[in-house]
Amino acid sequence: MTDQKKLSSLPLYEAITIAAQAVGEVLSGRSLTEVLDELEPHERPIVQSLSFDALRKWVRSHELIKELIPKAPPPEVDHLLSVAIPLFLRSNVDDNSYATHTIVDQAVKACSEYDKTMYAKGLVNAVLRKVSLMEKPAEGEKAYPPDPIPMFAPPWWRANLKRNYPKAWQAILFSQAKRAPLILRVNQRQYTRTEYQALLSEAGITSTPIDEVAGIVLPGALVLGAPVPVGELPHFYSGAVSVQDAGAQLAALLLAPKAGELVLDACAAPGGKTAHLLELAECKMTALELDGERIGKISGNLDRLHLHADNVKIVRGDASKAAWWDGALFDKILLDAPCSASGIVSRHPDIPFLRREADIKSLQQRQRAILSQAWKMLKPNGLMLYVTCSIFPEEGEEQALWFAAEHSNAVRLGAPGQILPTAVNDGFFYALFKKNGP
Ligand SMILES: C[S@@+](CC[C@H](N)C(=O)[O-])C[C@H]1O[C@@H](n2cnc3c(N)ncnc32)[C@H](O)[C@@H]1O
Repeated sequence: MTDQKKLSSLPLYEAITIAAQAVGEVLSGRSLTEVLDELEPHERPIVQSLSFDALRKWVRSHELIKELIPKAPPPEVDHLLSVAIPLFLRSNVDDNSYATHTIVDQAVKACSEYDKTMYAKGLVNAVLRKVSLMEKPAEGEKAYPPDPIPMFAPPWWRANLKRNYPKAWQAILFSQAKRAPLILRVNQRQYTRTEYQALLSEAGITSTPIDEVAGIVLPGALVLGAPVPVGELPHFYSGAVSVQDAGAQLAALLLAPKAGELVLDACAAPGGKTAHLLELAECKMTALELDGERIGKISGNLDRLHLHADNVKIVRGDASKAAWWDGALFDKILLDAPCSASGIVSRHPDIPFLRREADIKSLQQRQRAILSQAWKMLKPNGLMLYVTCSIFPEEGEEQALWFAAEHSNAVRLGAPGQILPTAVNDGFFYALFKKNGP
């Protein structure tokens, strides 16, 4: 686990102040990635760690705030406490090496950054001292037992999960409140998984293979014993390995491109799956992306992996329209559609705070528009893989059923369908269709 103290030389009170502001921004509707992207490089690691934990431990910290402060505190104090309280929580204590008095002092100092009154400082001081006592291990208790905390989810989100996963919904929320492990995909053009594990081991990095997800064999997946900065991964910058969740590694394997095939990655940025497809075969790739900023990340990724060659076209365009298309039909299409991202909450804990119920309906419409248009660009007997990183059936199974009902030439082939998040994979939906006739 990452030691938060080692993450930066930024004084803790400054980090708490910036993280509390970041939490405030998320609550007013901004994506945390966007907020973190504006930080100075030396600020980012510690602020990211603190703000991610604030959102992951939101449910527990707000149980404690409610218990200890009968009248809801002002928003700034609430945000500051939601950053500071997780530093004491049992499930986090092993990861930080700050002494109790340091956390309290620094949080109080952070308070004076915006509030000169004794009220806020006194409140923060008192609450944190109480929390530190409540979370202390009992006499003689050495190890901190895991302290399961469910992920925050708005009522409509919880109702959706409860309705669709009556047995698993709580386990899903508990698993999404945990920090996601760092998972790698070994570039098998350069190393086998065993060879790369040996390199990791020489560098003092422990790893374990992930052999399969949902019955699909993953030849290149490794989970690290503890996350490290990518720069410390052997030969990362020469393309030996990529960071990619195990559930996401199914996409290219299910589509199984062959050399020379015309392949469309219809929603491609930042290019994780484009790269995997190209690692598997020298296909003729069109990587399509609508977002003008995100599209730049595709070539960066492909350059690092030495996959950016004449067989790859990176195109800016809208997959729900044909304006960008030259009319050449594709053998295979990967449609990794824009979605709620409800399956990847452990890596993006701001998502349940940002989404609104009405978003699901409009995402469903966008997904349908892209599905229908992409289908027209597929050769007879071609394959199209529909993927979302969502666990809402509105974006998964419902879409697959709608698509098959609307397109009489679509044959649904074997693919895992809904994959729920676990300790080693995020939540994804996969449906594979073959075009039967024109
Ligand atoms: C789930 S992400 C893709 C992740 C990518 N496949 C990967 O593995 O790295 C979806 C992407 O689709 C893009 N997008 C959204 N609507 C689109 C559209 N109509 N046409 C093309 N791209 C679109 C988004 O900007 C976003 O980059």
